[in-house]
Amino acid sequence: MNNHYLFSLFILLMGGCNYSAPNVANQSTSGNATIEKLPTGTIPGYQTIATGIISPKCLGCHSSAGGNAAGINLETYSNVRLRLALISSAVTSDSMPIRISPLTSKEKEVFLAWIDAGGPINSMTVATGPTTPVMVPPADPIPGPLPIPTPLPKPIPAPNKIDYKLVNTQVIGPRCLSCHSDSGGNSAGINLETYESVFNERNGIKSVISSGSMPLPRNRPLTDTQKQTILTWLNKGSPETVP
Ligand code: HEC
Ligand code: HEC
Repeated sequence: MNNHYLFSLFILLMGGCNYSAPNVANQSTSGNATIEKLPTGTIPGYQTIATGIISPKCLGCHSSAGGNAAGINLETYSNVRLRLALISSAVTSDSMPIRISPLTSKEKEVFLAWIDAGGPINSMTVATGPTTPVMVPPADPIPGPLPIPTPLPKPIPAPNKIDYKLVNTQVIGPRCLSCHSDSGGNSAGINLETYESVFNERNGIKSVISSGSMPLPRNRPLTDTQKQTILTWLNKGSPETVP
């Protein structure tokens, strides 16, 4: 079973349960200004490709901070150079990027032309006719660390898919057990390490989550997705497993 299949299955499952996709519609569908204005026949250098396309359109997922989706990190020139063929096929087939607005046709054309030219560091001009003078481009410096867009919010799981295991891995484990476990000191005498203990505390948990009083104010609050996930589960009767 490949990832595409899993992803389609996911979409399919979500589709069946009033799943509302994260709001990506408000993301700009216009392309990068520098790329859009590039004259035909000009292949930009890596810096332009990196800041104009890779950073805004790929690094949300293909960076250390973005989780290196598919094991692919596109933060440096050498990493990108290593993956030119894979990137070319992903971009040609429009299979990347996902979940955000697609590349504009100009971005796609420029990105593919750059890849076809071997992913040059410096910009270059491709002769389009016998009279076209060949420009000697100025050297582009290799950029330092690129800005990484804020990761997209994780989709909220469909309500009828939320079981104890999911709530434990996404919310309680990472956000509550540092204090509510044997090794965390069982704050307020509350231990949330097992299904039974969480089930017994469900009313208290619901009220602290709804009021936002837990995790303690000095800690980072739950993300909207974490909050909705656990509240949905509590409202559904806190099932250990779902069919
Ligand atoms: C929202 C997250 C996200 C964004 C944005 C994104 N990718 Fe991906 N990418 C993934 C995931 C997840 C996979 C693995 C699943 C798949 O193959 O569909 C993947 C796989 C890939 C692969 C491997 C494909 C293969 O056949 O093995 C390449 C190459 C790739 N992405 C390039 C890019 C490029 C280039 C961009 C930007 C133009 C980009 N991705 C934007 C999430 C993303
Ligand atoms: C940094 C430590 C810390 C974290 C993280 C934390 N708690 Fe607490 N929790 C406490 C302390 C200390 C108390 C007792 C003092 C208080 O009520 O403010 C408490 C009290 C509670 C109570 C009882 C409140 C009452 O009014 O009786 C519940 C229920 C609770 N926590 C649930 C949670 C849940 C659920 C999470 C995760 C979303 C969480 N806590 C995360 C430290 C923590």
